Amino acid sequence: MVAAAEESGNTITQEKKPKVLFLFYSFSGQTVGVMNRLTAGLKSQGVEVKTEKLWPITPLRFPFESIYTTVKMMVITFFRYRMPIKELPDVCFEDFDLIILAGPTWSYSPSGPILSMLDRDGEALFKNKMVLPLISCRGYWRMHWYGLRNKLRKCGASVPNLIVFSHPHKEPWRTVGVFLRLAGRHPERSNFMGKHYDQYGHSKKQRDEAWRFGLILGEALNRNTPISELNFKTPLALP
Ligand SMILES: Cc1cc2nc3c(=O)[nH]c(=O)nc-3n(C[C@H](O)[C@H](O)[C@H](O)COP(=O)(O)O)c2cc1C
Repeated sequence: MVAAAEESGNTITQEKKPKVLFLFYSFSGQTVGVMNRLTAGLKSQGVEVKTEKLWPITPLRFPFESIYTTVKMMVITFFRYRMPIKELPDVCFEDFDLIILAGPTWSYSPSGPILSMLDRDGEALFKNKMVLPLISCRGYWRMHWYGLRNKLRKCGASVPNLIVFSHPHKEPWRTVGVFLRLAGRHPERSNFMGKHYDQYGHSKKQRDEAWRFGLILGEALNRNTPISELNFKTPLALP
């Protein structure tokens, strides 16, 4: 982004760094993992990045206490439970070239803290802003995406593209593995499950892909080229 500045009567050309707000919620650290690498990619292109987390008023601790609590959360979140969050700092309402709204899928929808934030602050945050959602999920993100895009557009945002990272394991191991890990177990350590499921969440290769996404996004912001034309649907992100 190029801006003209006046200095001692001469017009000089100054590079203005694009500014990005990363607004996120992460329960089990997976969104944070890809977000950190994407941020590094953006910064490698000189982009200024501000990161703000949504804080539930009643903290939710990973993992859940038991299988029962995990099932209960799955059911509650299926009905798009709003999880009240603390006030956002003023900086979130400043002017940004792009807001990346990042978080996990919960029962085919955005997570409770994100839904709460959209209800309370959506218009103030996103009106006339460009918003790029980043979804971290086990593998089922489409309903989340359609619902979120709708809500953002109702708030007055433009939504030019989407970044999704889904867990890289095959079914049914992925679903069973995520459920057990959320319930506090370690399926990767079991002799049987461990053969099909080596770790919970995103792989290092996916986090490296997030870095590359940050790089191409940073280039697009610097050159003022459309973000809608960037390809984020790669086999690494969506295996
Ligand atoms: C309550 C709950 C419901 C979930 N429902 C889905 C789902 O519907 N689809 C999906 O792909 N993943 C689902 N997941 C898995 C998370 O989206 C996935 O593990 C994600 O990577 C977690 O990101 P985070 O660590 O940033 O919270 C669910 C997780 C939780 C805790």
